[in-house]
Amino acid sequence: MKAENIGKSLKIRSKTAPSRIVYQPTESNNCEKNGMPTEITFKKYEEIAAGAPGILHIESIDVTPETQARSNRMVLIDETLSGYKELVERIRKINKEALIIFQLSHAGRLSDPAFKAPVAIYQRGTAPIKVLTTEEIQEARDQFVSCAVLAWKAGADGVDFKQAHGFLGDDFLHPANNRKDQYGGNFENRTRFFLEAYRAMRKEIRDPDFLIGSRISPFEGIPGGCGTADKDGLVEDLTEMRKFVKIMEAEGIDFINVSAGYAAANLELLLPSDQYPEGVPRLFGWTRMIKDEVTIPVIGSGYSYLKEGTNNLYGEDKEKKSLLYHAENNIEKGWVDFIGIGRQAIADPHFAKKLLENRQDEIKWCTTCGGCGALLGNNKPIGCTVYEREFTRILESVS
Ligand SMILES: Cc1cc2nc3c(=O)[nH]c(=O)nc-3n(C[C@H](O)[C@H](O)[C@H](O)COP(=O)(O)O)c2cc1C
Ligand code: SF4
Repeated sequence: MKAENIGKSLKIRSKTAPSRIVYQPTESNNCEKNGMPTEITFKKYEEIAAGAPGILHIESIDVTPETQARSNRMVLIDETLSGYKELVERIRKINKEALIIFQLSHAGRLSDPAFKAPVAIYQRGTAPIKVLTTEEIQEARDQFVSCAVLAWKAGADGVDFKQAHGFLGDDFLHPANNRKDQYGGNFENRTRFFLEAYRAMRKEIRDPDFLIGSRISPFEGIPGGCGTADKDGLVEDLTEMRKFVKIMEAEGIDFINVSAGYAAANLELLLPSDQYPEGVPRLFGWTRMIKDEVTIPVIGSGYSYLKEGTNNLYGEDKEKKSLLYHAENNIEKGWVDFIGIGRQAIADPHFAKKLLENRQDEIKWCTTCGGCGALLGNNKPIGCTVYEREFTRILESVS
């Protein structure tokens, strides 16, 4: 089987992605303590740029140094802007065509208490957590806006406003968000944070071509989380999330990146593996449901597990279980516009180029062993523990 649909370009606003392969944001945790990219960061992204994705996401970038899920995550503030300018310049030297998207994020509840205090939008359960005041929420909103402006100044093509995996952005959206002020309670209030930030970004970024999208978890799998109908609901109900993506589109957002799950509770929902191959059809299904609601481009997730067909999905026809087959088929059927690649791009940064050039036999396939995720969980620099000895050693030192 040959690559066809995935090699077609697609316009987003006035910009063109040269192919349908998107490298998803994947944290590297290799910056300076203040969030400044290091030479290691630059080298990682140069490799990725050489791999020729159509859209290249720069991993989760914190909009403030005040909360951080990992100690050496990216932080984009005035003080670190020069590093992000250099990052874009170095990527562009190698790859002029890929659209560069910065993922903007705020760790919120997922901030690591070992070094930064977690903060939340509302109290969940009984474990004490700092709940932000209305003024602090507005400050966080302004930090998202300032960070988007800095991303634009750094030369990015656009930003991805992260509202997924249990970070601050999606904490607002939860039906369980019972705040009494204008950021909690009814659906309108729960979507206010995003809309206020989004409108301010458009106003302050004086570039009509700048892209603003958002990564969402339409179903988080926690009581009262995204994709449920009420504060204690666990059963999947995408009514609100379907409505929300339509609202985002009506506001002028440029793309939706569909993931799933809640990082602190159920990583399997976002990371299909041998233990949970059903994660693949579930992610494809959620993506299709979101795609049904909007006309803007939709990016899908969960493809790495498929590999060249060696996986635990039911069936004997290897080709029909492969990443390439499902990528081609999902685009053909109109169920997705872009194929998002996470772990496979960590395992082989040149994956996109090889797949598009029909050099599948040269791909270093991700085994979905979980090694990179274990590094992340241990607050270490992240890379592939199967194909890069340096990261095998780091993992051995913590296990
Ligand atoms: C090591 C690692 C780091 C990740 N970092 C991010 C991140 O910064 N932002 C994000 O939205 N998702 C992040 N993810 C999730 C990926 O973007 C992607 O959704 C996930 O790996 C599933 O896609 P895959 O099956 O192609 O790997 C990360 C995943 C891994 C394994
Ligand atoms: S460490 Fe394992 S899961 Fe992560 S990219 Fe490498 S092979 Fe894939």
